[in-house]
Amino acid sequence: MAKKLLQLFPQSAESLELKNLYLYRHSWFKTNTKQPIVAANFLSSLDGRIAISPDGKSNAELPKSLTSQEDFRLFLELHAQADCLITHAGYMRSLSEEKLGNILQIPTGRDHEDLSNWRELQGLSPQPAVVIASSSLDFRMHPSLKENNQQVFIATGQNADANKVKYWQNEGYEVLTTGKSTLVEGKALIDALNAKSYKHFYLIAGPKMLHTMIDDKQLTNIYLTHAQQLLGGNMFSTVLDGDVLNTPILGLQSLYYDKSSENGHGQFFSHYECQYE
Ligand SMILES: NC(=O)c1ccc[n+]([C@@H]2O[C@H](COP(=O)([O-])OP(=O)(O)OC[C@H]3O[C@@H](n4cnc5c(N)ncnc54)[C@H](OP(=O)(O)O)[C@@H]3O)[C@@H](O)[C@H]2O)c1
Repeated sequence: MAKKLLQLFPQSAESLELKNLYLYRHSWFKTNTKQPIVAANFLSSLDGRIAISPDGKSNAELPKSLTSQEDFRLFLELHAQADCLITHAGYMRSLSEEKLGNILQIPTGRDHEDLSNWRELQGLSPQPAVVIASSSLDFRMHPSLKENNQQVFIATGQNADANKVKYWQNEGYEVLTTGKSTLVEGKALIDALNAKSYKHFYLIAGPKMLHTMIDDKQLTNIYLTHAQQLLGGNMFSTVLDGDVLNTPILGLQSLYYDKSSENGHGQFFSHYECQYE
């Protein structure tokens, strides 16, 4: 994909190739970092939708029209940098019902072998560990996790159903208690995983988990794609859900413009670093 993007920030007249933009030029990976790094990535329309209900009644889902090959390539470049993915029970349920595709692994095969090679060069395992955050503990494990020998943790709050905790422990999974209610808390989660030597966390979750991470001052990097589309819809999800936050200071690191993506719409790719007072 020899796709070129116009660099808008830092201001430049340069056009850059999309491939490797987030793997090399604007990566979030830091060799020998002592501090954990938590990165998230969202794809949104210009009216702020990350998912809409197709009929105004059923659950919101990511509309196919919003997705693009370019955004997915950058998503994978960010994914490749993780030693641990943070996801949740809702995603595992959607995956079991085949409502969403599988993003628990870096795809193998010719098109993505550069990502696997990059991981090997950094000393990362072929596929990242995965932590599944859940209050309900109602979900099924996806077979691809075992097939790829991925380390899997389940995180929940201390008031979670004890029988369900036992069920998952009997299945051979370590259940991390990282919250005072049934909810997982961001700092407790990252501290527990950091104690197991994980340092590079990539959030493949939605607005509630993002809130959990920002509320506890854990999110360090956010990558946003804004597709130049207006979607409307009465039932939708946005990037963030939950109580009003003490917003972190978002320092823009880069902004790129793709005039016309493969889906016929332009898009902006931005990267911010988060600082907390
Ligand atoms: N366009 C994009 O970039 C993008 C990105 C992400 C998601 N989406 C879409 O946006 C919509 C909403 O996303 P989502 O379903 O991922 O939303 P979400 O509201 O972030 O996640 C809900 C799920 O996460 C678990 N959860 C969240 N916070 C938790 C916490 N603090 N402690 C324990 N469990 C927690 C809950 O598990 P339990 O049910 O077990 O309690 C629940 O299933 C979906 O349609 C999704 O496909 C789009």
